[in-house]
Amino acid sequence: MLGNENQVHGNGDHGNLAPEHRGHGNEAQGHDIPGPFGQEPDEGKGAIRKTTVRYLVRLIRDGGVPKLVLTAAVLLSVVSSAAGLVVPLLTGGLIDHFQADTFQPVSVAMLIALFVLQAVAGGVSYYMLSYAGHQTVNRIRKRLWDRVLALPVPFFDRHRSAETMSRITNDTNEIRTLITDHLVAFFSNALTVAGAVALLFYLDWQMTLIILLAVPLGFGLLMPIGGKMYKISLGMYGELARLAASLTQVIAEIRLVKASNAEPRERAGGHAKMDNLYRYGMKEAKIYAVLTPLMTMVMVMLLVVIIGYGGVRVSSGALSAGELVSFMLLLFQTMFPFTQFATFYSQAQKVMGATERIRLILESEPETDGGGLPVPPGHHDLVFRDVTFAYREGEPVLRGVSLTIPARRVTALVGPSGSGKTTIFSLIERFYLPDEGTILFGDTPVERFSLAAWRKKIGYVSQESPLMAGTIRDNIVYGREDGVSEAEMVETAKLAYAHDFISALPQGYDTEVGERGIRLSGGQRQRVAIARALLRNPDILLLDEATANLDSDSEHEVQKALRNLMADRTTIVIAHRLSTVVNADRIIVVEHGRVTGCGTHEELLRTHPSYAEWARKQLRAGAAGE
Ligand SMILES: Nc1ncnc2c1ncn2[C@@H]1O[C@H](COP(=O)(O)OP(=O)(O)OP(=O)(O)O)[C@@H](O)[C@H]1O
Ligand SMILES: [Mg+2]
Repeated sequence: MLGNENQVHGNGDHGNLAPEHRGHGNEAQGHDIPGPFGQEPDEGKGAIRKTTVRYLVRLIRDGGVPKLVLTAAVLLSVVSSAAGLVVPLLTGGLIDHFQADTFQPVSVAMLIALFVLQAVAGGVSYYMLSYAGHQTVNRIRKRLWDRVLALPVPFFDRHRSAETMSRITNDTNEIRTLITDHLVAFFSNALTVAGAVALLFYLDWQMTLIILLAVPLGFGLLMPIGGKMYKISLGMYGELARLAASLTQVIAEIRLVKASNAEPRERAGGHAKMDNLYRYGMKEAKIYAVLTPLMTMVMVMLLVVIIGYGGVRVSSGALSAGELVSFMLLLFQTMFPFTQFATFYSQAQKVMGATERIRLILESEPETDGGGLPVPPGHHDLVFRDVTFAYREGEPVLRGVSLTIPARRVTALVGPSGSGKTTIFSLIERFYLPDEGTILFGDTPVERFSLAAWRKKIGYVSQESPLMAGTIRDNIVYGREDGVSEAEMVETAKLAYAHDFISALPQGYDTEVGERGIRLSGGQRQRVAIARALLRNPDILLLDEATANLDSDSEHEVQKALRNLMADRTTIVIAHRLSTVVNADRIIVVEHGRVTGCGTHEELLRTHPSYAEWARKQLRAGAAGE
């Protein structure tokens, strides 16, 4: 019956959270609140399926669990449990001898030795288990991270980034908790309970029988409440995840929120989720309010029964006083294992869910390296032959695109928004593979080249000029592992027309750009991105022009930077400005995923009505802008 109290608490929220909150989860990510956009409640746990268990075992084994350490930990925890069982017996014996006025220094010394043994064995075993757990998780994390970096771009289209992040931080941590706090503890606790019950029977089988009969009674009474508690705590977990997700999003896009006057909306949204959380908390509080005094009452009653009945047994001479003490101490010994059993199941469920999600990533195919051919040096034409591509099946974005990008020339891609221009770049970068058709470099399909070698040949200045958090210097040399000299970097920055504005900053090249480069202007970001591309010294240059965020001064600067960048390379520029287009050697018009025209500016003006229309509008806009 005593165990039942813990059973219920164990099933409740506190029980579930306990392992992480008890203080061994002392790593930054070792929290229960899933990351932003984290796990939904139903995602948090999974059914205990054979295949999942087998995969988990393989995962842990492949991680190279230090077997010796694990074995030693198991042995030590058995020693600790056994010592824990002997202590009550010895204590009882001592008490009986005290009564008989025969003080036994040997027994006292043994008792102390056992205490020390139990403590030391328990401590060392725990340390070893933690070691095994952290080691394993560290290796699984590294495997996951390596795989995530190798996954193809479509994977990241399908999965939210915070979700993937949570796989590496939270889900792996669940596995660590299982190893450190549950797996071995489960067996040693089972041992403790079995041993304790056997000893209880040996000491007084009648009293033990009474207690054991009360156990199923208590289970029957308390299991339903336990189940309810579990549901509430899961609901709370999910609600917390949703709150974290929505707050993160709002905080990240605070400018949008303010510019849209959306504070009231976000305030209401946040409040609603917080109120929900509050209601879960109160539901839990209600159950605990009934449960806690009930449990205390049951425990006190049980104590009264044992002491009362035990007293009767002692006075009748059926049991000695020492034996009664042993009995009660043993009974208490079974309490902790019971809480542990209760959390074991829910932890196992959580780990099953985590394992399946980790498996999804580890079993996803990494980017294909094709034939791994070396890329031929020098310049060759880049040819699209009947390329068809869809992000989602049945919604083709490119339909039978054939085009030739001449080597060492500037080719401009023009076309309305959404026509598929950036998609063409993504295919050249091999972020996606064409569904039909081929892309050739010289005579070789690009997918035959080694991926790293192919991408090394390309410099890509994308539409958003993304920056990594860090300094301007970090961002310019990003991707160049071979060490860039200060002089080379400054030279490049000058070519990109970035040097002047960078030197004007108080910290110069060591200025932190902030998250997503938020502390730089759009034009500044672009020039940093251009400097980065220049430093790679690529043969093929992909420029996704972004005009919207440039004033005419910085547009002029960027234009000059681009001209430096294009010299003696095969350049493809997605052009929005007439000035870029007019200077191009060849212009390709893309509309609705098809190539509808190709030629020089003059040729297209004459032959391509929608191009002529576009150019006329650009001219007018340009005139208005001057
Ligand atoms: N990652 C993606 N997943 C699904 N659909 C996408 C993805 N990226 C683009 N699309 C779709 O593909 C189409 C072409 O997009 P793309 O970015 O190539 O256009 P674009 O010509 O570069 O337009 P813009 O001039 O506005 O940059 C659009 O309809 C867009 O909705
Ligand atoms: Mg685009």
